[in-house]
Amino acid sequence: MQNKSIGIFDSGVGGLCVLKEIRDLLPNESLCYLADNHNCPYGSKSETEAFELARKSIEFLLKQDCKMIVIACNTVTAVAIDQFRSDYPVPFIGMEPAIKPAARRTRSKKIGVLATENTFKGRLFNQTSEKYAKGIEVFVQPGHGLVELVENGEQESLEARTLLEAYLMPMVDMGADTLVLGCTHYPYLSRLIQQITNNRMAIIDPANAVAEQTRRVLEISGLIRPGGQEPGYSFYVTGDVHRADRLLSKTMDRSYGIEQVRI
Ligand code: DGL
Repeated sequence: MQNKSIGIFDSGVGGLCVLKEIRDLLPNESLCYLADNHNCPYGSKSETEAFELARKSIEFLLKQDCKMIVIACNTVTAVAIDQFRSDYPVPFIGMEPAIKPAARRTRSKKIGVLATENTFKGRLFNQTSEKYAKGIEVFVQPGHGLVELVENGEQESLEARTLLEAYLMPMVDMGADTLVLGCTHYPYLSRLIQQITNNRMAIIDPANAVAEQTRRVLEISGLIRPGGQEPGYSFYVTGDVHRADRLLSKTMDRSYGIEQVRI
């Protein structure tokens, strides 16, 4: 059982940021990543549609014999993780909006959160905000259009700049000094965000915390893979291979084979 892979999925390439953190923290673990980029974005689909698509990804990863599933997508975590935890016998790790570290970090007591529409609708976001952001003003901003730009490799484009200016400058002007990235595609926009805001907001990305949680759950469940054997990495997409490949090689500093699959 310990030798099986950790399954990781997202609507697209965003979850690769999470995969990278897991690889760095758990170098012995084999990883199996699925990007459902044919159906990306999930953030603006109906919750039922996003739920059903995510279910197909999970079934695919379980067919690859994964021992655990990491939902490297805030949107799917928001709409479906509770149900999936009760439907399947493997441990699930999800993305939690990083409100707690942002609330600790802010000096102005004002934080911004950039995420998809479906993430803001979910119970998780509202509960996390109520619990950790008492006395803090939270500016929520749906990042319409950003996921598509990242998928297309246009994360430094004029369009990305224009959208980010429109989304972020109002919160900067109102005094927000900390920004939570509530979608796994957005870390690819960090450089542009820093430029646009002139480094006036600290950027909080929960990917590292998710990797830590993955390790904790593997340990508790007795699923840590022993050292001494090379880990295996497999990458699957449901849509365009070339676009995914570009970001994969950039994120992982080397290239891997990517297989296109139907799920
Ligand atoms: N990376 C997904 C997330 O974290 C993107 C959602 C989408 O496909 O819109 O929410």
